[in-house]
Amino acid sequence: MVTRVHLDVDPGSDDAVMIAMALGHPSIEVASMSTVGGNSTVDNTTRNALAILERFDRTDVPVARGASEPMEGTYDTAEWIHGENGIRGDLSEPSTEPVEAHGAELIVRQAREHGDDITIVAVGPMTNLAMALQLEPSLPDMVDGIYLMGGAATVAGNKTPMAEANFHNDPVAASRVIQSGRPFMAGLDATHDATVSGEMIDEYSGLDEPYDIVGPWLDYPDEIKRLGGGMDPAIHDAAVVAHLIDPAVLTFGSYYLDVETTSGLCRGAVVCDERRVTDNAPNAEVAVAADTERFRSVFEEAIDGLLEG
Ligand code: RIB
Ligand code: CA
Repeated sequence: MVTRVHLDVDPGSDDAVMIAMALGHPSIEVASMSTVGGNSTVDNTTRNALAILERFDRTDVPVARGASEPMEGTYDTAEWIHGENGIRGDLSEPSTEPVEAHGAELIVRQAREHGDDITIVAVGPMTNLAMALQLEPSLPDMVDGIYLMGGAATVAGNKTPMAEANFHNDPVAASRVIQSGRPFMAGLDATHDATVSGEMIDEYSGLDEPYDIVGPWLDYPDEIKRLGGGMDPAIHDAAVVAHLIDPAVLTFGSYYLDVETTSGLCRGAVVCDERRVTDNAPNAEVAVAADTERFRSVFEEAIDGLLEG
């Protein structure tokens, strides 16, 4: 079975790994992409998305530039993690341009065209998706599924003690998306275990294309590696596509969630009714664990697939 996907991204090095895996694996068809500010400005994330597609000879995939600002405030970008241009390694300037539509419009257009034959994957701040929901409130019922990388339901954050970076960057959008109709949320609870090893990074960096392109995307500053509890870097966004390829990568449980939208200490924190102390019915499927070995195996298979593409 082939899963058709729309990828909403802020590349970003782990976004880039996810895109490469989706392009490389025969069970994923990348129909379209939209970009959002987050890891860097939307100008940089759009340039990076186009450059990644060009590097892998997939300029046929339309890319729509999306939000440059969250619903309230500004994005707190992370060039110190992902590099000056928002992505590590050397990518040439793309020769292509984004399509005319806004990222949110492209999401809606794809949902209307493909219905339950498309899955939406959002791995940056949720701004484009929240805007798409404003344009088309039935979006969650139209598509096959909405998968998010974001949030920390039962564990500490990576941007603040309480909040994961994507949700912290646009908590209003994250809250709207969570309330919209049972998304699959892959947050830090699981993605901290979607790691690669130092040996894998060394091996990739010493090989030819496509491995030498992917190698630098895998290697994170030590401060970031430590957040996962070890020194193997978590490739957060890639966990979602790995799960679409192999549904045993992530384990999900049903919970009631909301997202704290204030600008104070808890901005972007997920409030998860883990003990079911309210009467609120579950409104999200939450990834509670990731199988590291399965993740690595899918990752290697998908990147190997780029050679055949
Ligand atoms: O917290 C991890 C998320 O934040 C990933 O999407 C990564 O790309 C960063 O933006
Ligand atoms: Ca991302």
